Amino acid sequence: MKLETLRKLYVTELKSLYSAEKQILLGLKKMKVAAHHDELKQAFEQHYAETEGQIKRLEQIFDRLGESPKGQTSRATLGLIAEGEKIIKAKGQSDVIDAGLIAAAQKIEHNEIACYGTAIAYAKQLGDHESAALLQQNLDEEYATDKRLTAMAENSINREATYSTGYYEESSEYTSSSSNNIGISLSGLLLGAATGVAVGMLLAPSAGSDFRRKISSQANNLFDQFGGQLGSVSDVAKSLLDKFSAQEGKSGNNPSGPQTQNSPYGAGGPKF
Ligand SMILES: [Fe+2]
Repeated sequence: MKLETLRKLYVTELKSLYSAEKQILLGLKKMKVAAHHDELKQAFEQHYAETEGQIKRLEQIFDRLGESPKGQTSRATLGLIAEGEKIIKAKGQSDVIDAGLIAAAQKIEHNEIACYGTAIAYAKQLGDHESAALLQQNLDEEYATDKRLTAMAENSINREATYSTGYYEESSEYTSSSSNNIGISLSGLLLGAATGVAVGMLLAPSAGSDFRRKISSQANNLFDQFGGQLGSVSDVAKSLLDKFSAQEGKSGNNPSGPQTQNSPYGAGGPKF
């Protein structure tokens, strides 16, 4: 390939985009079939229709430029779609597969976003503002799709994928294994709870003894539920809690702690 002018590079970029969109059209069809969530299927279906429109806009640009849209293959898209095919063909939990499909689709979208951004910059540089406007419409659709996929992943599908692995159920042996991740997490939670109680008691004002009793009681419930099942970390946490509970019983306050106005919750602490 000879690249002697920016126009040549611009046309090459446009051809690569055209190749990408054609491949994506086929990829979206497969992704829609492979998806399990209705919302995800709809997103792929909607973007399929948008992609058809994007191809038409690109063809308008080629007409304007007097160039053929053919002659370039987007190898990046070939590779990204091949990656996506692995998820499409995967067996396993439906929520996890959907999370993988979103990730695969977003990799493709991000590549398109980069390519459209470049093509728009070249179009503007060359004074091809009409084409730049058409390309911008395509780019806006890619951004919107990417945003929609992110929202779907973060608001529901990634979370559902977390629970659908059965990880929590399968990890019931945490009661006898201190090296288990869940066991470690719960120990950390208990230590955090005890530390929170300690900090809460330090910050609580003299009028907040009721508040102190409540947080102490809630932390104790947590220990009753889980503490006995965990190892030495929870023992440390429990002793920390006991120490501050005893102090509460003796003085009803901690005069050396920060003043009430320093509490982010104001007098009396947070309301439960
Ligand atoms: Fe596209």
